[in-house]
Amino acid sequence: MKKTLRNLFCSAGAIMIAVVLFAFVAPQDQKAGAPWVIPAKYKSMNNPQKGKADAENVGKLLYAKHCKSCHGGLGVGDGPKATSMKTKINSLKTAEFQGQSDGVIYFQSFIGRDEMPNFEKKIPDEQDRWAVVNYIRTLK
Ligand code: HEC
Repeated sequence: MKKTLRNLFCSAGAIMIAVVLFAFVAPQDQKAGAPWVIPAKYKSMNNPQKGKADAENVGKLLYAKHCKSCHGGLGVGDGPKATSMKTKINSLKTAEFQGQSDGVIYFQSFIGRDEMPNFEKKIPDEQDRWAVVNYIRTLK
């Protein structure tokens, strides 16, 4: 009887330790990002690289270098850094996301906000930026 009681306490202790550990390892509660406010100038921007397959390849390389760590290889928001963000990273594959204009995606990708870094300095070339947009279009 005594032994059973001790076993019971031990397992209760083990469960408690497991719960505490899990709280640290598991991703902390992430908030959903608010809707993006996109300036009109960006919304109506034309993509000068539209439909250019070469641009897609350049975009793929740039995406792998600068974006994949957070957005993941397939754009579903599961890169290694994603869990350390306070804001949930939405999938870039959804119809809702893909339904936005190229200019909106350009603004989100290179101007950014809060935890989504600004990439104007890291990707200074306009053609390169649109190449990334083209690559994002292939993720759907
Ligand atoms: C350090 C992590 C990080 C990196 C690197 C990063 N992003 Fe993000 N990105 C985020 C986070 C976090 C959000 C959500 C921000 C929000 O909603 O406030 C986001 C949002 C976005 C969105 C808007 C998606 C939506 O509908 O919510 C796009 C588009 C985007 N990123 C593109 C890119 C591109 C392109 C790159 C590379 C050039 C990149 N990101 C690099 C963290 C990152």
